[in-house]
Amino acid sequence: MALSGRRALITGAGQGIGRSCAEVFASRGADLVLIDKNGETLEEVRAAISRSGGNVTALVIDLVDFDRLRSGLEEIGSVDILVNNAGFDNPGTTARITDFDMESVLRIHVKVPLLLIQRFLPSMKSSGWGRIVNIGSIWGLTGAKGEVAYSTAKAGILGLTKSVAREAAPYGVTVNAVLPGLTRTPTIEKVLADKFKEMIIRETPLGRWAEPEEIARVVAFLASDDASFVTSAAIPVSGGWGI
Ligand SMILES: NC(=O)c1ccc[n+]([C@@H]2O[C@H](COP(=O)([O-])OP(=O)(O)OC[C@H]3O[C@@H](n4cnc5c(N)ncnc54)[C@H](O)[C@@H]3O)[C@@H](O)[C@H]2O)c1
Repeated sequence: MALSGRRALITGAGQGIGRSCAEVFASRGADLVLIDKNGETLEEVRAAISRSGGNVTALVIDLVDFDRLRSGLEEIGSVDILVNNAGFDNPGTTARITDFDMESVLRIHVKVPLLLIQRFLPSMKSSGWGRIVNIGSIWGLTGAKGEVAYSTAKAGILGLTKSVAREAAPYGVTVNAVLPGLTRTPTIEKVLADKFKEMIIRETPLGRWAEPEEIARVVAFLASDDASFVTSAAIPVSGGWGI
């Protein structure tokens, strides 16, 4: 199996794209360390993967709490693959966005990935193999009205991806980003108004939204040896939307 013998850390694995990444990675033989702030959903994912024979550790951590994050990281040891997926959106135009909303969105989408990279890149470098996959967004390329904080943060993760890719390349570590388009996850289903979903689907050449597994399969490819010559890439998985 493409990921057997690899140990992968996936953030935001309690639901949505992160959960699908965990399921796809497990089905391809990876050992998993999963982090989420929601203990209930995370336990469901852990138990389901464990029942199907996967080797999985789950840690309940609110990633924006850096003290808790740093102490949680001590329990983990090294990993071969890091998937920076956890995220949330604080919508707002320039007139409405608050310092707090801006800071927390930058923290989860840029500062947390940096902190995790700082923690896990050194051991990837020493072992001569590693994979970092950051989850961006089409809105990091295009911007979006009323999404000042989120679009800025998702553009930021691209700069981080490309800078770390250059730093890590001599050591056999690749660093890439996946940019989902509209994806059917619990948050999107609950929070995004139907008229916006319909508008995005109309603008999507493939004429539908993605299932989370369609994003996860691209993440799993980038995490595998099949992607050995892919680094510093930002791959839209958007059905053609925004590109
Ligand atoms: N769904 C989409 O249409 C879409 C499109 C583009 C990009 N993305 C990106 O994909 C990633 C996953 O999105 P999703 O739609 O699956 O989201 P989701 O809200 O369905 O799931 C996110 C998971 O991350 C966890 N999480 C959030 N904040 C956390 C924190 N501070 N600490 C620990 N865990 C935390 C949540 O508890 C949840 O389990 C995000 O980075 C998002 O920005 C999603």
